[in-house]
Amino acid sequence: MFGKVLKTPIRFFDINPIGRIINRFSNDTGILDDIIPSTICDFMNVFMTVVGSISLTLFLNYWILFPTIALAVLFIFIRNYYLTSSMEIKRIEATVRSPIFVHMGNTLCGMSTIRAANMEEKLNEEFFNHVDLHTRATSASIYINRWLDAVTLIFTYTTLISCLLIKRYHLFEVESSEIGLMLVYLLQSTSLFQWAIRQSCEVENLMTSVERVLEYSELETEPLDKGDRKPPVEWPSNGEICFNNVSFKYDKNLSYVLNNINIKINAGEKIGIVGRTGAGKSSIIQTLFRMAEPDGSLIIDDIDIKKLSLHDLRSKLSIIPQEPTLFIGTIRTNLDPLNQYPDNVLWDALEQVQLKEAIKEMKDGLESEVHKGGSNLSVGQKQLICLARAIIKKSKILIIDEATANVDFKTDSMVQEAIRQCFKECTVITIAHRLHTIIDNDRILCLSQGRVVNFGHPIDLLTDKNSVLYDLMFSLERQERIKLFGLAKKNDLNKFTHL
Ligand SMILES: Nc1ncnc2c1ncn2[C@@H]1O[C@H](COP(=O)(O)OP(=O)(O)OP(=O)(O)O)[C@@H](O)[C@H]1O
Ligand SMILES: [Mg+2]
Repeated sequence: MFGKVLKTPIRFFDINPIGRIINRFSNDTGILDDIIPSTICDFMNVFMTVVGSISLTLFLNYWILFPTIALAVLFIFIRNYYLTSSMEIKRIEATVRSPIFVHMGNTLCGMSTIRAANMEEKLNEEFFNHVDLHTRATSASIYINRWLDAVTLIFTYTTLISCLLIKRYHLFEVESSEIGLMLVYLLQSTSLFQWAIRQSCEVENLMTSVERVLEYSELETEPLDKGDRKPPVEWPSNGEICFNNVSFKYDKNLSYVLNNINIKINAGEKIGIVGRTGAGKSSIIQTLFRMAEPDGSLIIDDIDIKKLSLHDLRSKLSIIPQEPTLFIGTIRTNLDPLNQYPDNVLWDALEQVQLKEAIKEMKDGLESEVHKGGSNLSVGQKQLICLARAIIKKSKILIIDEATANVDFKTDSMVQEAIRQCFKECTVITIAHRLHTIIDNDRILCLSQGRVVNFGHPIDLLTDKNSVLYDLMFSLERQERIKLFGLAKKNDLNKFTHL
């Protein structure tokens, strides 16, 4: 199950809250491991005792055979009725348990926001609503077991009366001691009988957990290692990217978020992507990594990436995502997870991203601890570590999704400089909200509602009144605008220094 969840398409995590997934790994597997075996064992045990008691009763008083048969028929009928409803109730119970975990997890994640907004009471209330819903389902499942008591009581009652009648009217020879023995067993088996049946139903009900675990262990996975083509080791050697009629959606039943993208990014070009929030900038990156299969063809250095295995494709591209991801471990394991590079390479990379001093100041240097999700580092630092990781990996294609959005201006410009130096020969695609970050790029791609609106040199776009970049520039202060324009112009002139 874990293996499948690890390889399932990312979409799965968009539609399944973490609490639901954890529920299957904790509660359902717990039931599978601990409760089902002991319930089956219990059932077998008790069932045998009950069969023994009833056989003894029948042996001593064969008249009991008639009510036994009548009750057995009644019993089978009610049991079937009971099973369908109790299974449904069990399923409901499991379903309403997940929101408790989800709520708990979300609350813990957003603790500081909740405190700041003084929303403890409201969340408490929501939590109790979830718990109430769950309690309601649980108590329903307890109540519906009560029919068993009724049926077994009828059985004991019938036997008792029949014994009294036999004795009173001397219907046939039976010793008082034998009647005593029969009643002792019968009374004992009354409670056991209920228990046997309840356990037998319980086993069937608990099988919903097996069902749920099986469902996850049969999840569709991404074909990570399947590909029609194996790329050469040095691929991509140039870093030329061609989007031919590429459209993209996150799921089959969602609408397209990118429409008919037709662009060519030359080898070694520095491309900036701009657009308003939700324009599809990050989605372009998702297509490159084939997080969902895009339509159209996407060619990198003469190879259609759809023909490659996902593993080959993703290992050849470097990305610094919008939400930087670090793992529990040390700075070293985060920079070089496979332990392939010597210390000096790691320190060089840290120096280039201006982190060397900060890491040196930490007690253990490269061995300093990184907590879950990098929570002991600032967001800016996390992004810089991701950048250092990309520098170390030295891919021909680097994708940066607002990587410097959380660092100050000075660090930003130093990091941009580092990127320029380290990735001089590489194709770099940068998504940025701060126009200054990308204004010195070779070309800028402007997106709006998933379509390419402009794609050209910064200075041309800045002077084109119809371009998105022109619009975005006008959302800046006048001073900033002038500075931006100046930078673009300077950069444009720099191209002709060889003349
Ligand atoms: N995981 C997802 N599942 C479904 N739809 C998504 C998903 N991520 C983004 N979208 C949709 O795709 C569209 C483009 O989103 P995208 O994240 O590419 O925007 P963006 O330009 O990167 O915005 P921002 O500047 O805020 O990062 C949006 O309409 C969004 O609703
Ligand atoms: Mg984005």
